Amino acid sequence: MKTELRFSDAAGVETELLIVFATDHNTSKDKDAIAEPALLTADSALTAAAASVLASGEFKATPNETLLLHAPTGLAAKRLLLVGLGKASKLSVHDVRRGAGTAVRFAKPRTIRQVTIAAPESELLPPGPCIRAIVEGGMIADFDPDIYRSDRKDLSVRTLQILAPVPDTSDDKSIAELALREGTILAESQNWTRALVNEPGNILPPTELGKRAAEMAKEVGLKCEVYSTEKLHELKMGAFWAVAQGSEQPPALIVTTYEPEGAPKDGPVLGLIGKAITFDTGGISIKPADGMEKMKYDMAGGAAMLGAMRAIALLKPKVKVISVVCSAENMPSGKAYRPGDVVTAMSGKTIEVMNTDAEGRMVLADGLHYAKQLGVTHLIDAATLTGACVVALGMVNAGVFSNDEGIYGHFTEAIKSSGEKFWRLPEEDEYREQIKSQIADIMNTGGSRWGGATTAAMFLKEFVGDTPWIHLDIAGVAWLEEQKPWMAKGPSGNPVRSLVEWVKSYQPS
Ligand code: BES
Ligand code: ZN
Ligand code: ZN
Repeated sequence: MKTELRFSDAAGVETELLIVFATDHNTSKDKDAIAEPALLTADSALTAAAASVLASGEFKATPNETLLLHAPTGLAAKRLLLVGLGKASKLSVHDVRRGAGTAVRFAKPRTIRQVTIAAPESELLPPGPCIRAIVEGGMIADFDPDIYRSDRKDLSVRTLQILAPVPDTSDDKSIAELALREGTILAESQNWTRALVNEPGNILPPTELGKRAAEMAKEVGLKCEVYSTEKLHELKMGAFWAVAQGSEQPPALIVTTYEPEGAPKDGPVLGLIGKAITFDTGGISIKPADGMEKMKYDMAGGAAMLGAMRAIALLKPKVKVISVVCSAENMPSGKAYRPGDVVTAMSGKTIEVMNTDAEGRMVLADGLHYAKQLGVTHLIDAATLTGACVVALGMVNAGVFSNDEGIYGHFTEAIKSSGEKFWRLPEEDEYREQIKSQIADIMNTGGSRWGGATTAAMFLKEFVGDTPWIHLDIAGVAWLEEQKPWMAKGPSGNPVRSLVEWVKSYQPS
């Protein structure tokens, strides 16, 4: 999808579909005095074209509600689409992102290849973030996962144009241009991640993930090394290898480095660590058949880290970043690790394996430790780690854990602009009791079902030491179970945008 800015009035814009956002101005207090929805534009031609339908009461501007007008009066556009953003009093940039997505997904099945979205004008919505949100929402909406269907029709919207008022100053113009560029890079990187997560286990084993990472790295100018079995042995990655050993498919340890010129020598080195189990059968502690096909998305954490690295390479923040992605296939076989096994992680800690399905924490244990050895000063990991996190938070919020208020503060600031949702869960020492083993340093499960997301985090914490660290459990949010008006069902690409924002927050000011 091509994205472009156009600074002009709406009247003369020749386009297949012109989109304008509207908000609902009714408050619970004025139930009797029904207020008409208001368009988020100051453009007089747009306002005139929509006036009679707004007065009719047919369109309430509820979130993602749409209303289409053909041959709108006074406009050169072929069609005008009103998209509701919900209550005016609660309006935020995230509503704009979803609204833009809804518009693009409205256009796709109607084979409309070119859309123009009028950037909203409202005191509540800063122009730069709004333009970025439109680009992100529009490009993310254009993604569909049906790539293996023989009857697939490519319904992609070819051009997304953003219509903005003529800027007052050159500064205003460059803010808009930067927002367009940033939004495009972020959305392309998120879609790149989604395409990877969409791949089935037979097509994307660890070696193939490594290949795709290396190709991407070459394209955007990142350093990328892909290691396998020998390196795991050399580094004594006993926990990672325990998982990998059961599969015919060799593991991949993918190390990607971004080192910009101009980053301060004694500045932070950020570590992006991802779980990438290309298929999780559960191993010897095998999973039930029902729903097992979903476990192809158990590499979503690693894919998100790689997508974030792609965006970082293109956005060029002045901070060093190293990504370590641990990829393996978790299989039952004659070579597989068993419940009861004791293995030694790279850090020297011994682990009693209680359940081979708790494999994500095993690969991450060595990934986190290795990242510290590479000089990382701040760690963030993402993993589809526990079903317990999905039980706790459903599919709206990802779980976030942290051992340090400083790094957590950076993260909470960063997610204000990403629009992705997280909820903090505890990692207090009292929970450590649950992972104590009788015969080794720790066990790889919490022994009971209770607090499963936290006991997994406690396990990871063992390998983090004093390094400031954030752990994101994305099991519930990496895959959309139902399509949304603004997004297809399937891989979500969450948390690529938050990771990039978090990295940017460490740039020297
Ligand atoms: N990959 C799963 C977690 C998962 C569950 C991801 C649902 C996406 C959706 C993970 O490897 C796993 O199987 N975890 C176990 C841990 C348990 C054995 C302690 C779980 O959550 O049941
Ligand atoms: Zn598992
Ligand atoms: Zn898993």
